Amino acid sequence: MKQISKNSWAEPFKIKMVELLKMTTPAQRKKALKEAGLNTFLLKSEDVYIDLLTDSGTSAMSDQQWAGMMLGDEAYAGSSNYYHLEDVVKEVYGYKYLIPTHQGRGAEHILSQILIKKGDIIPGNMYFTTTRLHQELAGGRFEDIIIKEAHDSANEFPFKGNVDLNKLETLIKKHGAQKIPYVCIATSVNMAGGQPISIKNLKELRTLTKKYGIRIIHDMTRVAENAYFIQQLEKGYSKKSIKQIVKEICSLTDGATMSAKKDALVNIGGFMATNEWDVFEEARNMVVVYEGLHTYGGLAGRDMEAMAIGIKESVNDNHIRARVGQVIYLGEQMMKYGVPIVKPIGGHGIFVDAKKMLPHIPQHEYPAQTLAAELYLDSGVRTMERGVVSAGRKPNGENYFPKLELVRFTIPRRVYTQAHMDVIAESAARVFERRKKIKGLKMIYEPKYLRFFQARFEQL
Ligand code: F0G
Repeated sequence: MKQISKNSWAEPFKIKMVELLKMTTPAQRKKALKEAGLNTFLLKSEDVYIDLLTDSGTSAMSDQQWAGMMLGDEAYAGSSNYYHLEDVVKEVYGYKYLIPTHQGRGAEHILSQILIKKGDIIPGNMYFTTTRLHQELAGGRFEDIIIKEAHDSANEFPFKGNVDLNKLETLIKKHGAQKIPYVCIATSVNMAGGQPISIKNLKELRTLTKKYGIRIIHDMTRVAENAYFIQQLEKGYSKKSIKQIVKEICSLTDGATMSAKKDALVNIGGFMATNEWDVFEEARNMVVVYEGLHTYGGLAGRDMEAMAIGIKESVNDNHIRARVGQVIYLGEQMMKYGVPIVKPIGGHGIFVDAKKMLPHIPQHEYPAQTLAAELYLDSGVRTMERGVVSAGRKPNGENYFPKLELVRFTIPRRVYTQAHMDVIAESAARVFERRKKIKGLKMIYEPKYLRFFQARFEQL
């Protein structure tokens, strides 16, 4: 199997401004965690040392992006930054029509309301929390069509984001193509551990969906990171640039939702894009109700300018190699200590397998939530649960019990150094050493939607 190059990389930037970090004592962390109901989402950021909660909106912008912020054209309508963003989306991704939104879920909301009718089925390569919820709120039902390898944290298949085409065709035959408004395809599948989809699989999917007249909608939140794995591991792509690969991926799909807070290196922003005039026209009508005029969609002009510049920086080969390189470095350190992580290492973070690390804690006692709390107590490193709490409940009220019960160590882009990675891995190793003494949790408060954000817990 092809391997990702081991040649040393270094950050393709130098640091012009720093934000000082605050260190805390074990007693302070214990108090802060209790006040947060043992949920890392409810911690105050000032109580966190190294923040790996998410890679969303946490990137460091470049001097060029900050300069772009000063070029904000804050006209209510027709801001020049909108037209710049539209040009960049066409140039880099190739989609014809653009609707800016305040972030990814704004785009998911509009797209789901336009395309999904009550009773529709939306097949996808693993669920994402907000994406599935918007599909359900529009009356649809999500069906997982990712390959089975993706649900096994130890399986080292390099493209665990791939679609099982047989599963999809069976679904189409069972429900009929008219019940499937689109197939939802994420690049760098978040809940599987940042696992990529291959171009080969995407091409086969394109052929199959064409046969039945079904759209592919691309959740392109982390498309550049996916392109890096294709460049490194897929036959015929080693000489292609990230920019070329990103464009090819997008060309195999009909439209997209984007949370620009990840790949695109901005602190806020997103968009919906489509190649279909009718869908665009409806989205343009809806965006004024829920987000803002179609030339700003809930964003300031300066935000759109920073996004346009960030998109271009995100497809730079040196940037993406250092970005994913840092994630791989952390994963390799953790493996040296024996910490069980999802393999292969994905694009945006390291995912620890909490079922393997805490086999004595059953899933209904939230092993991944427990582990995230223990890591914070150990060192002030903040991670996030991606297991049964994140999976939430089905529309009928039953809990989803996902196969994967993970803690995500998500790496913000261009923010932390290799020395931070060492400190993080050492903390994970310390918690791993005392794993047998760790006890599970019970949930004492559960919000109705996306419970992981605000749920509260107590130790058993
Ligand atoms: N799709 C994917 C794959 C995501 O990872 C996210 C957000 C969204 C859509 C929604 O975008 O947050 O801008 O509204 N993921 C964040 C995370 C929250 O931490 O993984 P949003």
